Amino acid sequence: MKIGLLGFGVVGRGVYDILAQRKDISVGTVLCRRDLGELTARTTRDMADIIADPEIDTVVEVMGGLHPAFEYVSAALKAGKNVVTSNKHLLCHYYQELNQLAKEHGAVLRGTAAVGGGIPWLVNLERAARVDQIHKLSGIMNGTTNYIMDAMNKSDVDFADVLKKAQELGYAEADPSADIDGWDIQRKLIISAGVAFGVCLQEEDVPVFGIRNVSAADIRRFQARGLTCKLIASAEKLSDSVAAYVEPKLLGADALEAAVPANFNLISFESEYAGKQSFFGQGAGRYPTAYNVVQDLADIASGVDRFYTDKFQSAATNNAGALHKYYVRTKAELPELEALAAEDWDGAVVTLPVSVAQMHSLLQKMLEVDPQSFIAGL
Ligand code: HSE
Repeated sequence: MKIGLLGFGVVGRGVYDILAQRKDISVGTVLCRRDLGELTARTTRDMADIIADPEIDTVVEVMGGLHPAFEYVSAALKAGKNVVTSNKHLLCHYYQELNQLAKEHGAVLRGTAAVGGGIPWLVNLERAARVDQIHKLSGIMNGTTNYIMDAMNKSDVDFADVLKKAQELGYAEADPSADIDGWDIQRKLIISAGVAFGVCLQEEDVPVFGIRNVSAADIRRFQARGLTCKLIASAEKLSDSVAAYVEPKLLGADALEAAVPANFNLISFESEYAGKQSFFGQGAGRYPTAYNVVQDLADIASGVDRFYTDKFQSAATNNAGALHKYYVRTKAELPELEALAAEDWDGAVVTLPVSVAQMHSLLQKMLEVDPQSFIAGL
């Protein structure tokens, strides 16, 4: 197998290094805007060189972003070349189109590294969905935010300093807002829900609140009550819709997620026969992510000829029935919030059980008045 490698950043370099040790899969050409004089592979700035090369049968897209990744991947599939990508934004946004193109042109599309970095999550979700009814999936799906929350839980560190460290370690997205505001996790949740439930959720329907506003004082309040804060994605299959959302959650010491350190992810599904299964590993970083890219290449080389699912049904997101209490810290004085307040936590409140839909709508009002407001599910 000879590949065209699109992108030579953190993950691209990792893929290149791992493949340099193999004889069965080699890098033919690297597409990169920078000068990469030290490489033994050919380099180009023109995707047409890769498309036109009959020796390149598979393209690895690790550039990130929607454009030109979508155009490049589409061109590769139309030319009958297999595609392996780690790009969750691309897979979330263009899941159906790309899968359709792959089918039409007899190519294979895989993207295991797009969710959970080095964890074999999507491949196992695919295996579970083919024999079992998956009801629920949830967990920690972002290495950067877990790294930040873990550091803030362990010592009195500055949010910006820890984020900078996560960027230096190659965990964060080019725009770290994708991590800390939860968009990266939302995309991973939508891809996972697609594989698990055979549904297509729309990005604009899945509410997201990240950890940008969490403060040292919030963490002290949680610790005083034996709780740990983690950014969690959840999706549950309902009869004709899906409850799906991303928000910080307060966990007791008995929750597996509470103990997840550094850049690790822990993602679980619950199904009828298998019960609950959890997958733990490094969710971000050069070699863990590159490892799953190379696993996909090895799968294709050994004859895997499909994507994870081709059962796509549009499904509405419905968070009206997902009820729990919330920790709320805001300077906004809203009558709806006062009506829900049940406990005072030294300057913050804990609400009565309220739906995710209602709380995320209330949150928008809070943020208009106090942009530093913070909420976490309990
Ligand atoms: N920025 C992502 C994360 C990279 O921190 O999890 C892996 O998808």
